[in-house]
Amino acid sequence: KIVHVVLTGGVGSRLWPLSRKTKPKQYLELFGGKSLFEMTVERNAKIVDKLLIVGNMDNHHLSSKVMGKFNFSHSYIVESTPRNTAAAIAFAAFESNPEDILIITPSDHIIEGEVSYKEALNQAVELAKNDYLVTFGIKPTKPETGYGYIEFEGENVLAFHEKPTLESASHFLQKGNCYWNSGLFCFKAGLYLAELKKQEPEVYKKSKMVWDASVAGVLDFDLSLQIPSISIDYAVMERSTNIKVVPSNFKWSDLGSFESVYDYLVQDGHPVDEDGNIVIGPAPHTSFVGVENCLLVYSPDALLVLQKEKSQNVKQVHQYLESID
Ligand code: GDD
Ligand code: MG
Repeated sequence: KIVHVVLTGGVGSRLWPLSRKTKPKQYLELFGGKSLFEMTVERNAKIVDKLLIVGNMDNHHLSSKVMGKFNFSHSYIVESTPRNTAAAIAFAAFESNPEDILIITPSDHIIEGEVSYKEALNQAVELAKNDYLVTFGIKPTKPETGYGYIEFEGENVLAFHEKPTLESASHFLQKGNCYWNSGLFCFKAGLYLAELKKQEPEVYKKSKMVWDASVAGVLDFDLSLQIPSISIDYAVMERSTNIKVVPSNFKWSDLGSFESVYDYLVQDGHPVDEDGNIVIGPAPHTSFVGVENCLLVYSPDALLVLQKEKSQNVKQVHQYLESID
């Protein structure tokens, strides 16, 4: 069976003030009245046998509302507190049969080009059947530090480097045999658990404990806090040796920071002044004088003025606001 696992636990902190705790990025109706979550579900429901949504209790009503529109076979795993993707994917694997093929997808990305997308998934499923952990590679265009880098030779992965320094990212770009990691994965449920157990036994053990104590797919808050918070990229992908990569030709943007939102919008025809400045949101008339490549992000109760290149640092504003909350 092919199971589509939709990860929807993140808060999208680098897109503050658009993305909020009460309404994270994947539920914002940014494009033609549809949220990225809804677009993700629609894109995959046609291809897979079952959808499994792993998300936070705080957002459960938002996911359910979207799922209510459709008639897809689906189930939920409800986290009481986010423990990052290594654990979130482990829960999905515990819920599945070891031989089930899981297609893991974030719910906050833009993907265009249905045919190439399907092709890439089919290729990945074939590799996954032969007991590989499969990643999807995107041709890099700049030394972005918010992504993972997949060093490849053909379909083999030589090394995986999560969120490198700017220096390393530039080096990978020059080398030419590195892709960006798209954040999608495909593997057998049992293989993932075996790898997790080997690479991060503590995450495996604690996730299993939480899963065994869960009631109807709802995970306990206090027990969950014992799970080390680490992403699949650091926990498994950087360490495992049987990884393959499927080069992907679909159009992809993770809209992960304002820099990628900027690139996406400008490419899509969003107004930009001659110095590369843009406004996002229904702001009153705005002029930029003497500054370049800046964004003004307007929301009714908060403003962000940002130099595009510093987009990764927005996370710190979010963290600060959380700390004084
Ligand atoms: N259910 C659940 N629980 N989902 C989670 C949790 C959690 O605790 N934490 C994160 N997620 C979801 C997010 O909502 C998102 O859809 C996905 O998992 C990935 O998490 P991010 O926090 O967005 O990761 P990232 O963007 O820093 O990095 C990942 O994606 C990049 C591409 O967008 C990595 O896989 C990178 O290697 C990759 O390049
Ligand atoms: Mg992301």
